[in-house]
Amino acid sequence: TAAAHDAFRHDVVTAALAPSIRPRRLRQSAAMRRLVSETDLRPRHLVLPLFVREGLEHPQPIASMPGVQQHSLDSLRRIVAEAAQAGLGGVMLFGVPATRDAIGSGATDPDGILNVATRAIVAEVGDALVVQTDLCLDEFTDHGHCGVLDARGHVDNDATLQRYTAMAIAQAEAGSHLLGLSGMMDGQTAAVRAALDAAGHTDVALLAYSAKYASAFYGPFRDAVESQLTGDRRTYQLDPANGREGVREALLDLDEGADIVMVKPALAYLDVLRQVADRSTVPVWAYMVSGEYAMIAAAAQNGWLDGDRAQLEGLVSIRRAGADVVLSYAALDLVQKGLVS
Ligand code: PBG
Repeated sequence: TAAAHDAFRHDVVTAALAPSIRPRRLRQSAAMRRLVSETDLRPRHLVLPLFVREGLEHPQPIASMPGVQQHSLDSLRRIVAEAAQAGLGGVMLFGVPATRDAIGSGATDPDGILNVATRAIVAEVGDALVVQTDLCLDEFTDHGHCGVLDARGHVDNDATLQRYTAMAIAQAEAGSHLLGLSGMMDGQTAAVRAALDAAGHTDVALLAYSAKYASAFYGPFRDAVESQLTGDRRTYQLDPANGREGVREALLDLDEGADIVMVKPALAYLDVLRQVADRSTVPVWAYMVSGEYAMIAAAAQNGWLDGDRAQLEGLVSIRRAGADVVLSYAALDLVQKGLVS
């Protein structure tokens, strides 16, 4: 009957207005949310990248990276001590030399700024945190490429491997615990591992920047290291269109003996990060790069968003996508503000 039908419809609507499945139950209090949180972010999950410039007496702000500085040796020592105090997982050092040449001689010189700085901070913090060094030539070459050039002006893969192995030995001798292979030359992980082992540096670990994309988000970094690059890095860094190729690079680095593999940048490549994390048998890291940091910092300076919350959201999302550890320019600041503990 019509009346029975109306009663039935009423019951259906009433039931729909009072759902029995209520996901909001688990969001109702801070304590409940904390209990069901899937992803945590602790100081040990963060690595702070740092720039040290040869010949500086005082730290210099980097215009395109608000809150980030080029350090003098003294200010570097101080901030590394703070990073250790804050319980960060480590620091990643980048050197900015006073002079450059075609083969990046400063990179292999024991008195080059990166090697000098490494020695200084290893002496400062000992084993309290993991001291990492960027193993790449771009900061040291006058053409700004990550390798040496052949007669045609192209980046010469195998000649570059020779320079990387020498750089690896110099960094190991300076005391670096973990070498960040960021140059994207084929075979770099195997070449560096073999050279280190032959020299007795079997304990020095390798972080392979496996899936490193040719990214516009490195823009502010080029300021930070005063890069002299004209052109781009598309003959060695990955095409942002290619996910499979990123996975392949990570699997190759595993075969070549990488201790840790990395995806970089992070936020635009969370799909690649997830795929690498699902297949890797070693820790997987990600780098929230200079442009990712600077976008948030610039918007925050304009009052357009809450910078700390946005940095945290990025970092938690990168962890959720599969990163064990994240390199972030905001790492120390967030810990010191008590936002990561
Ligand atoms: C290479 C290197 C770069 C970055 C880390 N290692 C620069 C590049 O590939 O152009 C970029 C990091 C960032 O943007 O924060 N030495």
